[in-house]
Amino acid sequence: MSTSALDCDFLVIGGGIAGLMFAIKAAESGTVIVLTKAASAEANTAYAQGGIASVWSVEDTFESHIEDTLRAGAGLCDRNAVESIVREGPDTVHELIRLGTRFTRVEAGGEDEYDLGREGGHTHRRVLHAQDLTGREIMRALGEVAAAHPNIRVLENHVAVNLLLEKPDGAPHAACWGAYVLDRASGKVSKIVAAVTMLATGGAGKVYLYTTNPDIASGDGVAMAYRAGAPVGNMEFIQFHPTCLYHPAAKSFLISEALRGEGAILRLPDGTPFMKKYHPDAELAPRDVVARAIDAEMKRLGLDFVYLDLSHREADFIRNRFPNIFKRCLSYGIDMTVQPIPVVPAAHYMCGGVVTDLHARTAIARLYAAGEVAMTGLHGANRLASNSLLEAAVMGRRAASSAAEALIATRGQRIPEFPEWDPGRAIRSEERVLITQSWDEIRRLMWNYVGIVRSDRRLARAARRLELLKEEIHSYYWDHLLDSDLIELRNLVTVAELIVRSATIRKESRGLHYNIDHPERDDANWLRPTIIAK
Ligand code: FAD
Ligand code: SIN
Repeated sequence: MSTSALDCDFLVIGGGIAGLMFAIKAAESGTVIVLTKAASAEANTAYAQGGIASVWSVEDTFESHIEDTLRAGAGLCDRNAVESIVREGPDTVHELIRLGTRFTRVEAGGEDEYDLGREGGHTHRRVLHAQDLTGREIMRALGEVAAAHPNIRVLENHVAVNLLLEKPDGAPHAACWGAYVLDRASGKVSKIVAAVTMLATGGAGKVYLYTTNPDIASGDGVAMAYRAGAPVGNMEFIQFHPTCLYHPAAKSFLISEALRGEGAILRLPDGTPFMKKYHPDAELAPRDVVARAIDAEMKRLGLDFVYLDLSHREADFIRNRFPNIFKRCLSYGIDMTVQPIPVVPAAHYMCGGVVTDLHARTAIARLYAAGEVAMTGLHGANRLASNSLLEAAVMGRRAASSAAEALIATRGQRIPEFPEWDPGRAIRSEERVLITQSWDEIRRLMWNYVGIVRSDRRLARAARRLELLKEEIHSYYWDHLLDSDLIELRNLVTVAELIVRSATIRKESRGLHYNIDHPERDDANWLRPTIIAK
């Protein structure tokens, strides 16, 4: 085999909080290319409203944040992961501030301090935020640092298709040398060869019909890693956010949990509050409980939505604390200072993902994963609100040291020659309906059969339909020239299949996975993650 040169030391697939934190730290040790499959500002991170959880006030303790995280995770968190990520929270938040993030500050007792929000499942106020646009502010700050860094190149509208893998004889897993990448502007697929590859592709909300996620969230990283042979875990634990705005013209607009932290009440159309009958913490119960309660009330009364009401708080407070949500609701004719907001649950967060250790290493040599795409063990069966920005920032930052060592280990190593992308006899796709129909089918069947409440029969139906869709999509994929829709569709069906397989394996109900045929938690048999490998 002849040798080729590296295009960069670190290839980062994804430019959200995890990818950018990694890129900025890794750039101290080598050259970095960051790929974003759409405009660089388009990432789940940019939509984060509530904030980032970290022990911050003197009344709070690491032990309390750890206990809250473990409680939400319903027995499936990895305690080491929880301890190490929670304890690195304050340092990581300081680093975000040092990199330019401006979190909201308030005057308290004559002191100017960071404002700390409260969200469900947290026993203390510990959520740093930038009003209700936290993610956008983090993206601004990290994006500016990355853009100005001489060692970092950001390639927008470049979609990673597959990983470049070398399988040494006798080794259990392959080693990764970068990826094949589609340039959406030219339609050309080329290879980017790198010593270290970081998957920071975010979540997979688009696998469901209703989601809070933007269009980029099609689970590409999970699908690529799974195809490459990396174990994937806990995919049955999909978090449904209880409160997404219900309005025919509003696509995926979240109404932050921070509203409930500030006293918002969930009500039926006649004004009756209902959360107390489901949980003693009412509106601040863990998300799975709140989402299931709303789902149950909607099914019981045949409702399309319930209401979230903060109108008892002062109008000035609402406008200052939630300026973005206030404006957006007003644009749909809803004045949240005087009326309740119609809300429904929607798919929000993927708790499982590519299995990593606490340095973000996957089973594949020099393939790292951080952020929503990864499963570190922090979230277990349910993620505590605002713990995902924390995890993504901690792990992205931490991975850079281990990746720098991995880079040094490749120095002098022979770099394999990977073939150019071969389109074979693929032709241009002329029948877009074959893509859009499959896409719709997957999202609808996942919503109806693999949503907030599942059953054995629904899961079996979903599995059968996905099998057929997978066959059709795969043959279409190889017969047609690649574009981003086709790449995403192929990944989406893989991720859907992984969710259904994991949900089918777990014969109990726990955290975010609720199956009416196995309604009890069964610690004797299921106190372990669900791991699937090809
Ligand atoms: P993302 O920020 O999603 O970034 C993914 C990146 O990968 C993007 O740049 C994308 O273009 C790129 N990408 C994907 N596939 C490819 C490919 N094939 N090729 C090239 N590039 C690719 N969490 C909290 O902790 N607090 C909150 O307040 C909060 N609020 C939220 C509100 C909303 C509406 C949503 C949707 C999520 C929220 N979350 C929140 C969750 C949190 O925002 C995400 O989990 C987190 O931002 C994920 O960061 P990430 O870096 O892993 O991925
Ligand atoms: C929200 O603001 O409700 C989202 C918080 C999160 O997903 O962690």
